[in-house]
Amino acid sequence: MDYIAMSEFSRTLVTTALPYANGPVHLGHLAGVYLPADMYVRYKRLKGEDVIHIGGSDEHGVPITLTAEKEGITPRDVVDRYHRMNLDSFTRCGISFDYYGRTTSKLHHETAREFFLDIERKGIFIKKTEKLFFDPKAGRFLSDRYVTGTCPICNNPEANGDQCEQCGTHLSPLELINPKSKISDAIPELRDTMHWYFPLGRFQQQLEEYVNGHAEDWRPNVVNYSRTWFKQGLGDRAITRDLNWGISVPLDTSDAEGKVLYVWFDAVLGYISFTREWAVLHGDGERWKEYWQDPQSRLVHFIGKDNVVFHTLMFPAILLAWNEGRDAGLYNLADNVPASEFMNFEGRKFSKSRNYAVYLGEFLEKFPADTLRYSIAMNYPENKDTDFSWLDYQNRTNGELADTLGNFIKRSVDFTNSRFEGEVPAECTAEEWNSVGIDWPETLRQFDEAFEQFHFREAVSTGMEIARASNRFLTGSEPWKVIKTDRGAAAKTMALSLNLCHALSLVLYPVIPETCNRIHRMLGFEGGIEDMFAKGSSLLAVLQTPPLKKGHRIGKTSEILFTKIEDSAIEPELRKIEKLLAEAEKKEAVKVEERMEFKPVITFDDFLKVDLRVAKVLSAEKVKKAGKLLKLQLQVGSDTRQVLAGIAKNYTPEEMVGRNVVLVANLAPRTIRDEVSEGMILAVEGEAGNLFVIEPAGNEINGKQIQ
Ligand code: MF3
Ligand code: ZN
Repeated sequence: MDYIAMSEFSRTLVTTALPYANGPVHLGHLAGVYLPADMYVRYKRLKGEDVIHIGGSDEHGVPITLTAEKEGITPRDVVDRYHRMNLDSFTRCGISFDYYGRTTSKLHHETAREFFLDIERKGIFIKKTEKLFFDPKAGRFLSDRYVTGTCPICNNPEANGDQCEQCGTHLSPLELINPKSKISDAIPELRDTMHWYFPLGRFQQQLEEYVNGHAEDWRPNVVNYSRTWFKQGLGDRAITRDLNWGISVPLDTSDAEGKVLYVWFDAVLGYISFTREWAVLHGDGERWKEYWQDPQSRLVHFIGKDNVVFHTLMFPAILLAWNEGRDAGLYNLADNVPASEFMNFEGRKFSKSRNYAVYLGEFLEKFPADTLRYSIAMNYPENKDTDFSWLDYQNRTNGELADTLGNFIKRSVDFTNSRFEGEVPAECTAEEWNSVGIDWPETLRQFDEAFEQFHFREAVSTGMEIARASNRFLTGSEPWKVIKTDRGAAAKTMALSLNLCHALSLVLYPVIPETCNRIHRMLGFEGGIEDMFAKGSSLLAVLQTPPLKKGHRIGKTSEILFTKIEDSAIEPELRKIEKLLAEAEKKEAVKVEERMEFKPVITFDDFLKVDLRVAKVLSAEKVKKAGKLLKLQLQVGSDTRQVLAGIAKNYTPEEMVGRNVVLVANLAPRTIRDEVSEGMILAVEGEAGNLFVIEPAGNEINGKQIQ
């Protein structure tokens, strides 16, 4: 078997991003993370390798508390509901986790505390104090979304602490005029609060070496995205929050009171806790170490592209911090992080908030898992966003699965039963095996390479190519005719066809496991396909020569493997999408209309009351504690003015210096944040609240009137 490169690793730990237990998983999640991971794991099992798949629910974080408050239930109720629902959907979809944990478990809390304490003891964390709003009635600190008040930009009295809905400006709660707590209506007080920060910068060099060391074997996007962060320089990240849902900071000091670990700090450690729980469940509480701490073990994180930095920078940094100063019990860093792009749905992004999604559980109530798995695998978003459509799903199911694969298996089994007493009727040689239209050694090499390099579409396509070749072989050999004159030749054809059926059940097993196990039974085997491959035996070896011997008994009956999907079955689904899209468009149309509602008519004299002048920015600086504001000193002819402008999100102070701007010069002065603003400058708001300052162009226009 020298054509298969021996791996430097003797075992593999596969993890999948822990979905928030705050809503049902949809087809986009399945496509990017869980299905590819499951195919990979199942493939490894058929190679006789030691592999486990660890996943679970991410059960902490602010969004879960908001859902609970909205529904008048406890966070515990929320996570119980969605943990159960998601695990059930995954199970029905054939995602074969070795363990599916929950971050609310006792062992996970212990693990996270252990990590926190280790890093704290080493003096790696930095503590920083900042001022945050505190609700004196409710007795708790308020995160941005829990504060409301008047917008400093447009005077909307109901602006939120993170954003004003009316003018779209992104705010910090400290910028609100007359802030109020949403919980109790109390006027919040500014109180000092201390938080623990993880200094990512301390590990930047090690992390750069780590990522650069994988520049060749990781996906370009994963490497590039991480490098963007290096370029900006890694800073300190707060890893605690003032919240009452999560893992409390494990210290007795008063400054730890009411604080929990930041959800991302705890979630990534879930991979470790859940492997520990898996080990306990299998009767050897120490066995998790084989997967995490033996350098011979390979760690692979399957995630979506939005989670890259947490897996290539933050989690590795936490592990490096743990490893620091130890010479035993060191954690491995991930060997690969196959992050996916997104799979869209009928040309649009999945959106939970707009309810534009197909949820996995719902889908499986109407259609079988394997057909979904196959279609999604063929649309795997490896390097670019892809699209799932009902029509594509219908075509692949009816054409590739039913007509090509299902039909071939059924014809082979039926003909053998009716004409050859249900037995493999001949012995086949390796040479004959390679004359059916498939170059097995080369095909298997490519197949293996595709899986090992996470090219899932290619791997599954190779399987379907084998099905097509098999069909061509059987149809071209015409055993139903040949048998009349040459029973021996027909027997050979059927022996080869049955071997092809068997081969197909193995190579397609990672993508359509349930169907392949049915084929397995139709071919007369008991048990499941995985049972065939004990440690050390591999499908790659098995398929080098025709695996079924003469005389092997197949099952007596054939089954229809795939039912075709009628137009009438997908029509309601298409109508549903039309409705959803129409609703989305209506909403958008309303938005545009709103924008085009002009202000009441004014006279020319009214207009002339506004004194607009060309001014030049002499200097600019950020306003302390007001993230969105820049303080500008302007030259207006012979005059100078100080103006506060809410443009810091789009412009740095340096970028503003030297620019020409339009100043509303006769606006009554206002005090914002203890600073006087003598006028305002004009800007236009684009998409997503981005502001663009109006810049008049011309020579020697400073101080001149605009009209
Ligand atoms: N819950 C996160 C999300 O859905 C993913 C967490 S992945 C883990 O985006 F690494 F933190 F576990
Ligand atoms: Zn506003």
